[in-house]
Amino acid sequence: MTDTLSPPTIPESLKKAREDFPILKREVNGKPLVYLDNAASTQKPQSVIDAVTRYYSQENANIHRGVHLLSAEATAAYEAARGKLARYLNAADESEVIFTRGATESVNLIAYSFVEPLVQPGDEILITHMEHHANIVPWQLLCERTGAILKVAPIFDNGDLDIDAYLSMIGPRTKLAAAVHVSNAIGTVNPIERIIQAAKAKGVPTLIDAAQSIQHMDLDVQALDCDFLVFSGHKLFAPTGIGGLYGRRSLLDGMRPYQGGGDMIAHVSFDGTTYKEPPSRFEAGTPHIAGGIGLGVAVDYIQSIGRNVMQDYESQLIKYAANRLKNAPGVQLIGEPTHRAGAISFTMENAHPHDIGTILDTEGIAIRSGHHCCEPLMTRFDISATARVSIALYNNHEDIDALISSLAKVNALFG
Ligand code: ALA
Repeated sequence: MTDTLSPPTIPESLKKAREDFPILKREVNGKPLVYLDNAASTQKPQSVIDAVTRYYSQENANIHRGVHLLSAEATAAYEAARGKLARYLNAADESEVIFTRGATESVNLIAYSFVEPLVQPGDEILITHMEHHANIVPWQLLCERTGAILKVAPIFDNGDLDIDAYLSMIGPRTKLAAAVHVSNAIGTVNPIERIIQAAKAKGVPTLIDAAQSIQHMDLDVQALDCDFLVFSGHKLFAPTGIGGLYGRRSLLDGMRPYQGGGDMIAHVSFDGTTYKEPPSRFEAGTPHIAGGIGLGVAVDYIQSIGRNVMQDYESQLIKYAANRLKNAPGVQLIGEPTHRAGAISFTMENAHPHDIGTILDTEGIAIRSGHHCCEPLMTRFDISATARVSIALYNNHEDIDALISSLAKVNALFG
């Protein structure tokens, strides 16, 4: 990487993207908003906001339960969103997409409904050292309940996964091989294809945490051949409180329900209850209908840009950002992974990450500072926090240039 890496050219289908996101027009602390906290949550395009408003103003009714028109329309819109997601992920069947509250609930669902009935004391769950808490704590809870053991594959100092170590840890007692696709904290892209193939060769089911990668990459669950993949809608330009999981139908069929309640049952009596087929079996109660519809429209939005276009552009922009940060006075990058997407973490010698975040906020620049829900990863780097910049399709090199200018002010203040 050189100091002279030129800024990427914005492709045609992305030229107007900023105008699609109304929040990007607002000011923060008297300055134009520069939003670089997309790993925490993305902004919403007008089409998603309109779809949610339309649902509440024109279609609002419960789904799967009414014979009246509004219920039929709401049901059709919600199920259409499932279909869009299934096609987006290239699932073999729409029933392989389960709506949840997000990636966290999806991992908890898989832990309870799929893994727990399989494990005996001493069995193992394998993850990496760069997981966020959503792919750590559900497994710790499961280990407490069952006597299973959580195994953690190491990472190198540059933030790459030690893939040979990971693969060698898939053993006869491994009941699940799980890994984050893209690290939310340091941006590492993990070689999930190798993980999935190696686990499959040993008959071990796989779980891919796509909470970050789904916003940056083309994901094809059939090509990947993973068993489960989890994601959150709010990191994909959709509302909060909605997300989902892809699960291989042959596995979903054998899984017990996660929560009990309405809409997941076939028949209920006091003598016993029977359950619906997937996906309904895993969707108890009234769901986040407006969120699901909004998620479908978010998928339409990304398709209108072109996922490959978005991926190529973002990959150039993140390289540009990493290069500029690396050369910024007083800045130390935390993790320089071989393949990066979406996020860059850094520290400054004399300024705490919260000070950096606070000063940038006065300049209208939003980043995240803290442990990024990855405390074990911070411990691995012997730090308690970083400042993190994370991009989305609407960011441009001017955003990065504004960040670098403001960091120069931080360095002048603290350096
Ligand atoms: N996991 C989210 C983040 O990375 C909240 O900020």
